[in-house]
Amino acid sequence: MIYFDHNAATPLDPRVLEAMMPFLTTFYGNPSSLHRHGRAVKTAIEQAREQVARLVNANAEQVIFTSGGTESNNLACLMAADKKNVFIGATEHPSVIEALRALKIIPVDPSGLIKSDSLPLENGFVSIMYANNETGVVQNIRQLTHALAGKDVIFHTDAVQAAGKIPLDFALSGSNLMSLSAHKMYGPKGTGALIHDGKTNLNPIFKGGSQESGYRAGTENIAGIVGFGKAAELAMLELDLRREHLLMLQSTLEEGLEKITGLSIVAQAAQRLRNTSQIVIENIDGEMLLMQLDQQSIAVSSGSACSSNSKEPSPVLKAMGYEDKLALSAIRISLGQQNTLEEVERFIEVLRTIAGAR
Ligand SMILES: Cc1ncc(COP(=O)(O)O)c(C=O)c1O
Repeated sequence: MIYFDHNAATPLDPRVLEAMMPFLTTFYGNPSSLHRHGRAVKTAIEQAREQVARLVNANAEQVIFTSGGTESNNLACLMAADKKNVFIGATEHPSVIEALRALKIIPVDPSGLIKSDSLPLENGFVSIMYANNETGVVQNIRQLTHALAGKDVIFHTDAVQAAGKIPLDFALSGSNLMSLSAHKMYGPKGTGALIHDGKTNLNPIFKGGSQESGYRAGTENIAGIVGFGKAAELAMLELDLRREHLLMLQSTLEEGLEKITGLSIVAQAAQRLRNTSQIVIENIDGEMLLMQLDQQSIAVSSGSACSSNSKEPSPVLKAMGYEDKLALSAIRISLGQQNTLEEVERFIEVLRTIAGAR
């Protein structure tokens, strides 16, 4: 199987599994317990907090562990509850869109970049993703927060797809809140974090015990948190190596794709994640293409969202100005560490044959 769907989920790094195993077996204590079983797991959680903090150049006390990107985004969006001006980018993830009401959508240009002249003028809440899950387009978060300097605005960025793929610096980004998820960086599913600036008064979703400094009650997912910590540590150590490998794969991939008639790479000229290439192809149905590729043992993702009995074009591509028909042809290729040049070459060959038979 050729797996090109890493923006949906990454495989668990064996080194991460190894770090998690003792916390699924030997160390079963509750971190809130005062005896040595409890203390041992508490120490492991605090070590993971340091590791995750280091990945985004934050302090350990700024990390709140959650059940993943969705919960982190939901928790951040609660900050918008009492704000009059709630702004989000036009290409945000559903876990931001659905968590907010009465909001203003900040348009993007044809390459998916936020139009900064549409940012709020006074106070409010703004949520703009760091890197897009479909197109890989990376926003200039620093520039956007800079434009808001001096205003009474809480700025949240969903960095779920960016973390572990590009260098992140929470303080330098100028944001108040940043969401992360472990399973997009070779860590376990069901674990994430919200990084906060310590000045923003968060309202917890889960109320109860004093875990996570009272921001997230409930006994911690210890193995998940330890795995997240290890994944963050590895991502940080290997960031340059990973990026080099992905750049080499992406260049070969996109050189090959460009030769296919009627195919274009979405936001090709924009700054994008090195693992993500979304393509549209004239006169092709993206979902049919996905199934044809699946028959050839190649896993990619389609751009459309299925709703009951009709196919809806991707809202991300719509926001970028794509017509429905072309948007419905989209597929996303998201590469990962284990992928090889041979796999990329095989994919191009298969796609060329399918596209040639249109
Ligand atoms: C940009 C973005 N934000 C948030 C999420 C949700 O993360 P999780 O699956 O950890 O809930 C995803 C997952 O696909 C994502 O791509």
